[in-house]
Amino acid sequence: MQARTPLLPYPAIPQRRPEMTLSPAIFERRESRVRSYSRSFPRLFASAKNATLYGADGRAYIDFLAGCSSLNYGHNDPDMQQALLDYVASDGIAHGLDLFTEAKQAFLAAYEETILKPRGMDYKLMFTGPTGANAVEAALKLARKVTGRTNVIAFTNGFHGMTLGALAATGNASKRDGAGAPLPGIHRAPFEGYFGPDIDTADLLARMLDDPSGGVDAPAAILVEPVQGEGGLNAASPEWLQRIEAIARKHGALFIVDDIQAGCGRTGRFFSFEGFGLSPDIITQAKSLSGMGLPLALALIKPEHDIWKPAEHNGTFRGNNHAFVTARVALEKFWSDDAFAETVRTKGAHLETRLRAIAARHGLAVRGRGMMLGIDTGDPQGAARICARCFDEGLIIETSGSRDEVVKILCPLTIAPADLDRGLDIVADAFEAVLAGEGAFPRAAAE
Ligand SMILES: Cc1ncc(COP(=O)(O)O)c(C=O)c1O
Repeated sequence: MQARTPLLPYPAIPQRRPEMTLSPAIFERRESRVRSYSRSFPRLFASAKNATLYGADGRAYIDFLAGCSSLNYGHNDPDMQQALLDYVASDGIAHGLDLFTEAKQAFLAAYEETILKPRGMDYKLMFTGPTGANAVEAALKLARKVTGRTNVIAFTNGFHGMTLGALAATGNASKRDGAGAPLPGIHRAPFEGYFGPDIDTADLLARMLDDPSGGVDAPAAILVEPVQGEGGLNAASPEWLQRIEAIARKHGALFIVDDIQAGCGRTGRFFSFEGFGLSPDIITQAKSLSGMGLPLALALIKPEHDIWKPAEHNGTFRGNNHAFVTARVALEKFWSDDAFAETVRTKGAHLETRLRAIAARHGLAVRGRGMMLGIDTGDPQGAARICARCFDEGLIIETSGSRDEVVKILCPLTIAPADLDRGLDIVADAFEAVLAGEGAFPRAAAE
């Protein structure tokens, strides 16, 4: 095992308010039972810088969760922070409905210059409302409007959000159970590898759609995540995605890529499907789009599909100008050239090497792509114990997968290499300790 690496010396954040250690009573009394992350990480958090969160008691935690990939550029990036402070101090518009504002204009111009033009992409930007689920809802609604059809094909282990339309496209039963209403309009198809390596799931879908008695209504869209974030870090191959797009084209369906978790650099390029030869009709983005954890979501729409009537899809919070300000800085700072993406690819390769070493030691498999990687333990309880142990040692890390069996690493892409290694030391120790205590996982899944 590698020698332990010390936490980088961020400016020490002193014990800020000793009286403000966690007093769970107000949360127990007033916050809904629906809360979840605070159950895994029951501390009172006060501040954060890049890849470190600080408790109110001054304790530092390395962040391998990064707001579920909403903080790809770390906590409180100094340039975004300063731009936002300046904007607020100059009475910049905070809430703009969908008015033309300077902040939105600058964001649109930066998106065109840094993202669309260099990639030869032509898309309209639809501000859908602040969350990822809003972007997915808009995408589904538009695909149905464009095609005049209802049925949407979504995949096993897909996760697309919690509102009813997005939830219908989501596979996980524990999330679907909360709907309290039917979740119609979706045909579920198996993702790549769902039945193991010998069954070609793209063939299966093609056969069912080609067969007039296949029982699948003509689809308005096929909706897919290139890397399934919540569903267990299943990374689709370029070839499989190309075939899914071809199936969509053949059957007159729109091809929608949900890049909400895998995008904004997470896999080493701005879009997770870059270089795969795909041309989605709609791309959804949210999470790290604002760069600083502020709510901002987009549906990128091919111009010929932008057939909305004015105000046909509305929403009060489609003009988060604070988010436009920080998002513009994120684009200009990190995406004006390939330098940042290159660092992500380098760190991703290192992360993969270290995870493969941990996984190999315990006969387990690594899942995912880029800096969206994890170890499949095959055992939800074991994975939970590993994450709990990591937290005791000062690391925030979560699980994913249909049974929460994958220990998932989603650290900020800007994490200092020493902090990445320190966090991985903690992960390695936790696997060691949990496995030493309990023997091999019941369903060890080496590949
Ligand atoms: C791929 C994907 N789509 C959609 C969503 C929903 O985004 P939000 O939670 O912002 O509504 C998520 C959230 O995790 C996601 O990972």
